[in-house]
Amino acid sequence: MQGPLWRALFLFRYQGWMMDITVRGLACSVAFFLAAPLPLEAAGNKVAGRQKAQLCQGCHGLDGLAKVPGAPHLAGQDEVYFVKALGDYKSGARKNEAMSVVIEQITPADYADLAAYYASLSQDR
Ligand code: HEC
Repeated sequence: MQGPLWRALFLFRYQGWMMDITVRGLACSVAFFLAAPLPLEAAGNKVAGRQKAQLCQGCHGLDGLAKVPGAPHLAGQDEVYFVKALGDYKSGARKNEAMSVVIEQITPADYADLAAYYASLSQDR
């Protein structure tokens, strides 16, 4: 007499637990996938940056060591400083004949990638 009732109750509870665990598991996975890639994207992609740095190599070198007089070394440059410098050339807050020409050929979306690439290079020369 009691058997089926307890069984039903148990199954009901059991389903509840399982749902709970599943929902929590899903929430965790979703949170993980949402949260994990963000810092990487924000930090810029240095592989993409290396591609874009071909525009810069004539003066700053692909190794980040300056090739012409007047151009600074970019190897190991701080990323925040780097992105700000490019933004300043773009806005005209900072002016330089060479950089003003170059800055028109890249978009703000490229700044972080270039910064990540140059920051990753060694300053040893
Ligand atoms: C034709 C030469 C030339 C090219 C090409 C060039 N630059 Fe420059 N860059 C310069 C010179 C010269 C300066 C110093 C300008 C100044 O005094 O403000 C400079 C300055 C900079 C600075 C500021 C560095 C600091 O220490 O303040 C950054 C960042 C920079 N360049 C990034 C780039 C990137 C990224 C590219 C390629 C997309 C590039 N440059 C291409 C000549 C060049």
